[in-house]
Amino acid sequence: MKKDDMSPIESKESELNSAELQMLQSSLAEQEDRSNIPPPERKKQSKLVKFAKKNTALTVIISVFVTALVALLVFLCVYMATGLANGKNKRDYLFTFGEEEIRIKYEKIVIDEVLYIDMNKLAQYAELSVSGSENTMKYVVSDEQYIKFTNESEYAIINATKVVIPAPAIIKNGTCLVPYDVISKAVETGIEFKSDRAKHTVSITRLTYTVEDVTYNEDITFSSADFTAVSAIQSTSGITFEYNADVTSYLQYIVPEDDTPYLMLVNPQNPLSESFVPENLSETPLPSKYTGQGELYYLDECASEALIAMVAAMYRDIPNNGAYVTSAYRDYQYQVELFEEYINGYIKKGYTRDAAEAEVLKTSARPGTSEHQSGLCVDFITSGMKNGLNNTDFEKTAAFKWLSDNAYKYGFILRYPENKTHITSYSYESWHYRFVGRDAATAIYFSDLCLEEYLEFI
Ligand code: DAL
Ligand code: ZN
Repeated sequence: MKKDDMSPIESKESELNSAELQMLQSSLAEQEDRSNIPPPERKKQSKLVKFAKKNTALTVIISVFVTALVALLVFLCVYMATGLANGKNKRDYLFTFGEEEIRIKYEKIVIDEVLYIDMNKLAQYAELSVSGSENTMKYVVSDEQYIKFTNESEYAIINATKVVIPAPAIIKNGTCLVPYDVISKAVETGIEFKSDRAKHTVSITRLTYTVEDVTYNEDITFSSADFTAVSAIQSTSGITFEYNADVTSYLQYIVPEDDTPYLMLVNPQNPLSESFVPENLSETPLPSKYTGQGELYYLDECASEALIAMVAAMYRDIPNNGAYVTSAYRDYQYQVELFEEYINGYIKKGYTRDAAEAEVLKTSARPGTSEHQSGLCVDFITSGMKNGLNNTDFEKTAAFKWLSDNAYKYGFILRYPENKTHITSYSYESWHYRFVGRDAATAIYFSDLCLEEYLEFI
């Protein structure tokens, strides 16, 4: 290749203008500078890290301690905040009854987070009559308007209706605490209830109305409408009683003026003492034409007269098919003998004493718990029943049908109905009739309640 052939290249190189040359030079100089930059210096380790590296165990201990301290502080803050909140919520409640203010300690009136009210205080303010026992309290405006509570019970009776209540009443030493929400809902008219749960105040005011400048108290009424009803007793007013003969002379016994003594409850939970003898046990036995032969049968005087009226009516309606009395008043000692006799019967069949007792108790009462000791009940049987008292045979009789339809008119109830054994404690006894007086007997008959249930209402 000729030297001349090279010339264009050379000439090209020579063509770099001065600006370009300067750039090239400065770039080279920069590269030279960079090579002079020392490698980045490693950061100096903090004293703390150095210390931690040297003293690992001590560091762990300190870390745990600090963490625990922080946790404790957090816990204390939360605890104090909650405590303060609770302290604030547990202020006394201020109850106002009309003009009167009563301060009540939070713990005494809020139980299991339910606000209660002292019913006796309310009754005093609203002039309700109060009656009760150790376990029940009844607040009454009239025969029709009342509310009844039982200690620790999930039910209350409002007028003639048994209802479920969301929290129980607490009855203790004569005081009766009732959930505020229950009484404020149950009172329909006559009293105004206001509460401010945030401020812990309850205000109760007797409502009044004015006519020609005279102020009257509004009538207080209760209502079960806002509650779930469990059962109700039928009002007996308006019922007409038909008899197959003139019973006018017996009405004083059939409908006793005061039926309280005839509502006596005798069952395993309510025993009679060994020495109990009915106060008015009749001196005259029941007429032998109405009883089994060879024995004398007695009842309480009033029950005795009512029974005579009833059996006479049965014999008129179903001549030759009427039932007769096979047991009436039994004293304690007689029940001891009867009970033992039944038990021995089972023991002879191979039962242990305990097993025999359990079997006998289904149909027979332990001495002291037999209603027969009250002198208020009888067992019926018919001449056709050769196997003694049993439901299968008795239910087939006309007498059973007649008693089922008519006994209430004479003040008697079927005491141990078929569907109530879990309440009465005894098996169904189609033959056992108990005198309670016509009002209670009618209410029980039409309401399908047993005596235990009925007694809850009154
Ligand atoms: N048969 C009833 C329960 C009594 O023995 O009194
Ligand atoms: Zn009986």
